[in-house]
Amino acid sequence: MLGGKRILLVIGGGIAAYKALDLIRRLKDRGAMVTPLLTRAAGQFITPLSAAALAGEKAYTDLFDLTDEAEMGHIELSRSADLIVVAPATADLMAKMSGGHADDLASTVLLATDTAVLIAPAMNVRMWQHPATQRNLATLLGDGVRVVGPGEGDMACGEFGPGRMSDPLEIVTAVASALAEGPLQGKRILVTSGPTHEPLDPVRYIANRSSGAQGTALGRALSALGAEVVFVTGPAEVPPPEGVEVVRVETAAEMHAAALAALPVDAAICTAAVADWRAELPSEGKIKKTGSGPPALALAENPDILAAISAHPDRPRLVVGFAAETDDVVAHAAAKRERKGCDWIVANDVSPATGIMGGAENAVTIIDAGGADAWPRMSKDDVARRLAAKIAGALA
Ligand code: C5P
Repeated sequence: MLGGKRILLVIGGGIAAYKALDLIRRLKDRGAMVTPLLTRAAGQFITPLSAAALAGEKAYTDLFDLTDEAEMGHIELSRSADLIVVAPATADLMAKMSGGHADDLASTVLLATDTAVLIAPAMNVRMWQHPATQRNLATLLGDGVRVVGPGEGDMACGEFGPGRMSDPLEIVTAVASALAEGPLQGKRILVTSGPTHEPLDPVRYIANRSSGAQGTALGRALSALGAEVVFVTGPAEVPPPEGVEVVRVETAAEMHAAALAALPVDAAICTAAVADWRAELPSEGKIKKTGSGPPALALAENPDILAAISAHPDRPRLVVGFAAETDDVVAHAAAKRERKGCDWIVANDVSPATGIMGGAENAVTIIDAGGADAWPRMSKDDVARRLAAKIAGALA
């Protein structure tokens, strides 16, 4: 799958560097040629010798800098690869990249390159969430850098949360998608997916039955056609697609902020089942049974993400919404298209008898300015593939 592709793997100095060794193996298993480049700090975690032995190629470090200029200079090193992968991308490396620093071999190569770059961030939760890192991330995304992860979980520093480097296999998928010569190569696509949870108090929330299956299938299908996918997901049952940038949110307000932060994109596909309402004022403590009847629940309306994207000054070329209806599907969906200002509505009948909500199949009708096109019932994966191909056609 990666046969003949040359990857320059910049290994940053973090505990996740040990996973970069496994990544070298996985990339080689798939036919890629891997040139490792270790930062000085990476050398504190793994040795150039182990990276070189696994890659079957010389590993570059600052130490060899002077002699290497005679063999392959930093410019050539940066240009000879089909893709530069930075894994782990530490907070420091991301800061250097976004600031355009060139004070060691890794940062110099990254500044001198005109090759596509994919980073797999890895750092402590607080470092990842720090506004400085998030600013740097936004700058890098704006510069066209692709991002995979970070994942969420227990971290070597003993904390829990986002900051964990994606698993090597996930990075391999992202590498394959970055190198895919599909029709969506070079296109950045936002997908919203899953339900949202709207807290009533610290333990209760309003939610819906969306599993995230259709959104995940679509994210995967778009990525397989070469798109760079930003996947903004609520707490879904189905895990997000591998190898794409995943932004996890809880509430509609958070999804709204994350979706708008992802702009500009070439297309936005809103598959999320966003809760229409939230508690106006979620209780800070658990709401107690008082014996004097149920509490009054004041609701406030959530922002409409699809409508906001459709009306945004950075409106993507293509905006697609989904409409889950239980009756008069086409008429309601066509009205929704007008109201929200999107280009297409993918409408489906979710009345309980269809078994579509939470099921493996879907029967959709695509509504655009020209009318309605009813597709036969098929698996959600097939709907996703067909829709991804249609999106590729519209963005061509
Ligand atoms: O109005 P309704 O919820 O039926 O519209 C469904 C479409 O609008 C879906 O594409 C959904 O993702 C999007 N939506 C949204 N933000 C909301 C409500 C719906 O993006 N607050």
